[in-house]
Amino acid sequence: MLYRFSSRRCESQPDKSLWVCDMLKRIRTEDVALGMFLHKLEGSWLSHSFWKRRFLLEDMEQLVDLKSSDVEWVTIDVSRGRDVAAAPVPEPAPAAPEPSAPPTPPAVARHDSEGGRRAQILGRARQSEESVAPAAVPARATPYRPLASRMIAPGARPLSSELSAASEIAHRSRQTMRDLFAQARLGKTMDVAAVEPLVDDIMHSIQRHPHAFTGVVRLMKTSDYLHTHALAVSALMINLAMQLGLRQHQVREAGLAGLLMDVGMGHVPQEIYDKEGALTPAEEQIVHSHTTLARDFMAVECEIPESVVDVCLHHHERYDGSGYPHGLKGEEISLFARMAAICDAYDAMTSRRTHKAGLDPAMVIGIMRDDIDRMDPDIFEAFVRAVGIYPVGSLVRLSSERLALVLDQNVKNPTLPRVRVFYSTTDDARIEAEDLDLVYRIGRDSIVSRENPDDWGFEDWDKMASDMIRKATGVSVR
Ligand SMILES: [Fe+2]
Repeated sequence: MLYRFSSRRCESQPDKSLWVCDMLKRIRTEDVALGMFLHKLEGSWLSHSFWKRRFLLEDMEQLVDLKSSDVEWVTIDVSRGRDVAAAPVPEPAPAAPEPSAPPTPPAVARHDSEGGRRAQILGRARQSEESVAPAAVPARATPYRPLASRMIAPGARPLSSELSAASEIAHRSRQTMRDLFAQARLGKTMDVAAVEPLVDDIMHSIQRHPHAFTGVVRLMKTSDYLHTHALAVSALMINLAMQLGLRQHQVREAGLAGLLMDVGMGHVPQEIYDKEGALTPAEEQIVHSHTTLARDFMAVECEIPESVVDVCLHHHERYDGSGYPHGLKGEEISLFARMAAICDAYDAMTSRRTHKAGLDPAMVIGIMRDDIDRMDPDIFEAFVRAVGIYPVGSLVRLSSERLALVLDQNVKNPTLPRVRVFYSTTDDARIEAEDLDLVYRIGRDSIVSRENPDDWGFEDWDKMASDMIRKATGVSVR
């Protein structure tokens, strides 16, 4: 659709400085009504809670959110929705303002001990994102009402209750991702609308339990790495964004970025993608091109937020400037791309693939910590808090001289996870499996160290760990 702008002032409402083109009108937010097609919201994307850049406004809650946001002007497309000059439709009064509401997102305020660090990252995030959106952020007209306040408290449901829902979401999501990647590979327009509900489903699962969804994805087939990796990174991005106290629309965008960032990989020949050992320079160049290819796909998808396009292009940049495609350094790399770099590397190292076993999650945290110059240290620390000191699937040694597998996190006491004991270190032999909640074993048993599975000679530890998780949780994964 071609838009032709003119500088003709609207004569019908000159007092409102309404500028007109053939199909697009710039109007004050206070004049927005249901049925209008919003073509553009002015100001930084941090100044409002809307995920899509262009959409038909049909929902009263969205209208109330828009009118109570920092957005003062919008552009509507009158060829796709109601015109501002149309007869008014009765609207309910906007939600009562919350004059005493603090401007800081409540997710930050919830974690007092970490508030300073999160506030620093949030501050930098806002500066960074405002530089992406060059339009000036208008002065705050009404108190901002963050959607994050409506988020369900993390860990609101036990792992056992969330696993079946997470399993259903994971299988449905994987099929959608297969279709989406196939569309991209064939150069077709991607059905991005089909992905949006998935992001919400994954986000809601993580809000109910932070590790159920990633646990299910970990158990999925190794031959479908490209799609399960997208799901896992999406979940890690959502979890990390929540840990950083980002607003709900940012959490969604982070999840969408995780799903889409490797969509350009569909063009990399399978034999290169699955190759064992070092790539030749020519093969390396082909793999690296998945970033610019993804950006090129996204450029024609007007519904995809710019921050997501940026992650597609820059998730292989590294904090010390050693990444690609542009060798960006430090905070030249956007917040989401710095987050994605960490989530992507963690999942790549911990995942099983056809030609390699996944590494122990706690070991991977150690490896990444040794390589901290390549990532944003503040975001990495938040990531460690998000996945836990002993991530699900880690091998640990207990004071009772037994080895155990971490089954679930304890959000309040990260050093006291739920574990499955299966090996005696004194007898050097397998023992009957027993599940322990270490929070109820204080004074009797505790974790004394992380262990490297290779040191214990376990054959195919990754499969062994997956089987134990499967048995302990009863989750059925195809
Ligand atoms: Fe990638």
